[in-house]
Amino acid sequence: MQMTQPVRAGMSVEGDLDRYRRVRAVLPSLAEGLSSEDLTVQSMPDASPGKWHLGHVSWFFEVMLLGARQGYRPFDPRFLSLFNSYYDALGARVDRPMRGLMTRPGLAEVMAYRAEIDVRMEALLAGGLNEGLERDLFELGLNHEQQHQELFLMDILHLMARSPLDPAAYEIEPRLGEGQVVARGGWIAFEGGLTQIGASAEGFAFDNERPAHRVWLEPYALAADLVTNGDWVRFIQDGGYQRPELWLSDGWALVQTEGWSAPLYWGRGASDWTVMTLAGRRPVDPAAPVRHISFYEADAFARWSGRRLPTEAEWEHAARAEPSAFTNLDSEAWQWTCSAYSPYPGFRPTEGMAAEYNGKFMANQMVLRGGSFATPLDHRRISYRNFFHPHQRWAFTGLRLAADGAPEAAAMDDDATDAFRHDLIVGLSERQKTLPPKWFYDAEGSRLFEDITRLPEYYPTRQEAALLRRVGPLWAPRFGAAAVLVELGSGASEKTRLVLDAAPDLAAYVPIDISPAALGEAAGRIRADYPDLKVLPVVGDFEHLSPPPSEAGSGRRIGFFPGSTIGNLTPDAAIRLLRSAREILGQGALFILGVDLVKSPATLIAAYDDAQGVTAAFNRNVLVRANRELGADFDVPAFAHRAFWNGEQSRMEMHLEATRPMTVHLGKLAFRFGEGETIHTESSRKFDQASVRELAEASGWKLEAFEVSDDPAVALALLAD
Ligand SMILES: C[S@@+](CC[C@H](N)C(=O)[O-])C[C@H]1O[C@@H](n2cnc3c(N)ncnc32)[C@H](O)[C@@H]1O
Repeated sequence: MQMTQPVRAGMSVEGDLDRYRRVRAVLPSLAEGLSSEDLTVQSMPDASPGKWHLGHVSWFFEVMLLGARQGYRPFDPRFLSLFNSYYDALGARVDRPMRGLMTRPGLAEVMAYRAEIDVRMEALLAGGLNEGLERDLFELGLNHEQQHQELFLMDILHLMARSPLDPAAYEIEPRLGEGQVVARGGWIAFEGGLTQIGASAEGFAFDNERPAHRVWLEPYALAADLVTNGDWVRFIQDGGYQRPELWLSDGWALVQTEGWSAPLYWGRGASDWTVMTLAGRRPVDPAAPVRHISFYEADAFARWSGRRLPTEAEWEHAARAEPSAFTNLDSEAWQWTCSAYSPYPGFRPTEGMAAEYNGKFMANQMVLRGGSFATPLDHRRISYRNFFHPHQRWAFTGLRLAADGAPEAAAMDDDATDAFRHDLIVGLSERQKTLPPKWFYDAEGSRLFEDITRLPEYYPTRQEAALLRRVGPLWAPRFGAAAVLVELGSGASEKTRLVLDAAPDLAAYVPIDISPAALGEAAGRIRADYPDLKVLPVVGDFEHLSPPPSEAGSGRRIGFFPGSTIGNLTPDAAIRLLRSAREILGQGALFILGVDLVKSPATLIAAYDDAQGVTAAFNRNVLVRANRELGADFDVPAFAHRAFWNGEQSRMEMHLEATRPMTVHLGKLAFRFGEGETIHTESSRKFDQASVRELAEASGWKLEAFEVSDDPAVALALLAD
C-alpha cells in the first residue's frame, strides 16, 4: 500500500488523538447491549465472534505500531497469536473456524485489553507519530478498525438470523452513514472512451486501489437507483430461482445444493415476505434496495432483466463523473460488479508487516463498489474496492444494473412502454400538461396506493369496505349458481374478499388490472385463500375490455368496479367503459359500482394530501417511472404535489407543480416548464345519486339499488342489464 502522509489541512480539523478516540469508540458502542454470549459465539467459519473483532483490531495497533517501538512489552504475549487474523509472517494463529470456541479470554478481559491498548496508543500519539511508515500504519489501523465495524454488524446479523427467536440485536438498525435517498428512476448514459480509475497518490487509500491507471470504456448506461426488494420479488415470482438459463453454472449448482429461493435472511410470513434485520424480523420493504445477495444472484437477476452487471471501471467512472445523478451510491448496499478482484497494472503491496493486507486475496473473488449503511462515512471512497467470493451473501450486498449503449437502448421497449411514451409526449405537449392516471400503477405505484388506503385521512377504502360488508350478503343471492366475478382495476383484491365471502358459490374470479405486479401478487393470495375458486387474472386496460376467458364458464357475469376508480375517467370515457362492460358481460349481467360522494372540500383535500406525504410520493412516482422506463430526466424532487377541489367539475384534482423553471427531455424532445406550471395527473370525480343514475342510464344499465355508507360517505350502486 502506498500510503502517503494524510493531508495536513485535515490535521487542524481533527488531530490524531481525537480521531483515534472517535474511531475506537464505535465498536464498544455497537457491542453495548449485546450479551457476552452474543459476542462469543461464531455463527459460521466466514464470520467472527464480536469479542474477537474487539480484540483483533486492538491487536492490529499493538502489533503494527506499539510493537514496532523499541523495548515494547506486549499486554499478554498469548494474545499475539490469539487475535492474529491471517498474517502468516507474524507467526501462529488460531484457525478461523475455531474463533468461536474461545470462551477465554472472557469479554471483560478483552475489554481490558482494549482499554490498555488505548492507554498505550494515546501515550504514543501524545509523543507524536513518526512520519513515514508509522503514520501510514496508524492510518491503516484506523481504516482497518472501520472495516471491522461493518464486519461486526454483518457477523452479529448472521448470528441473530440463526436463532429461531429472530432476536433484534438493536432497537433500530444502526446506520454508520446517512439515510436512504428516494428513488430517482432512469438511466445515466456515458459515452465511454479513455478514462482513469484508481486512487491518486494523495491521501489514504488501500494498496489495492492503486496505482491510478487508464482504462478504455465502450458507451454504457448505469441505473440511477439500486435494484429494490420489490424488483426482487418479481424476479422470484417469475421463477428466477427455478430457471437454469438465467444462472452461471456454479451459481445454479449452489441454487440446487443450498436450496436458494430468495436472498439470505428472507422468509415467508403469513402473507408476505419478511427479512431478518439487525432490528429483528421485519416485513420486506418493496421500495428499499435489496441486500444479502450473492454475486451469482446479482448476475442472474441482471440476465433476467435483460441487463448486465457493471464493470468496476464503469462504476468508478460514472461515480466520478456524475455522483449526484445516482441514488445510494455508497449509502445502502455494496454493489456487485462483474470485475474479478485482481491487481491493477503496477500494483505493489504495502511494504512491511501489513504486506498481507489485500494482495494475497487476489484470486477467485469479485469486486464490489460503493458502500453500505454500515460503512462509516469517512471510510467511503470512490476508488474503494471491496471484495467477496461469488457465493457469499452475508455482507450488505446489492446491485445496480448496467446496460450497453445509450439510455434509449436501456429503456424497456414493449407495447406498454410505447403507450406510456405516447401518452407522456401527447400530455406534455398540451397547454395544460396532463398524464393519464393509469400510469401511476407500476409496482411501486400500486404499493404506494395500498399505503394510501391505510392512511387515517383516506376514508374511501374503509367506508366502502364497511358498506360492502353490509350490502354484499343482500345482493349476493341475485348472482345465481356458478357466477363469474369480473373486477376492473382490481389492485390488491382486498375488497374482493368481501364479495367472495358473501357469494361462496362463485365459479370464477377474473381480476383485470394494468399493473402486472399488483395483479400477480393479488391473484396468488386469492388462489391460496380460496382454493375452490378459478382465478383467471388478465393484465390489461379496462378502457379496452375483452370478454372474460372461456375457462370462466357460462354463469352470470357480475361486474365489480370499486374504489371510485370510475371517477378518474372523464364523463364520456366513463359512459364508454360502462357500455363496453355491459356488452362483454352479456345478458343478465349485474354490475357493482363504487363511487365517492360529494362532500366538504376540507375532508376531500385531506384525503388527497395526507400529512405523511404518501399521496405526494404516489403522485411523484409517475415521474420516477418515466425516468426509469422512458429515459426521461425529470428532476423529481423539484415537482411539488398539489391537490385541490374543482367545484365546477365536481372533482378533486391532483397536479405536479414545477417549483422552478426547467426543461425535461424525453429522447430528442424537450418540454419546458415555467415555475408554477403543473402536470394534471388525476381527476377524481365525486358523485351523488342523480349523477350515478344519469351515468348508468346513459350507458344502458338500470340503477337497481344505491346504498350509502356512514360519513364520510361513499356509495355502492347495483346496476342490472
Ligand atoms: C384507485 S385503485 C383501486 C384499487 C382497488 N380496486 C380498490 O378499490 O382499492 C385503481 C386500480 O385500477 C388499476 N387501473 C388504473 N387504471 C387502469 C386501467 N386503465 N386499466 C386497468 N387497470 C387500471 C390500478 O392499477 C389500480 O389497481
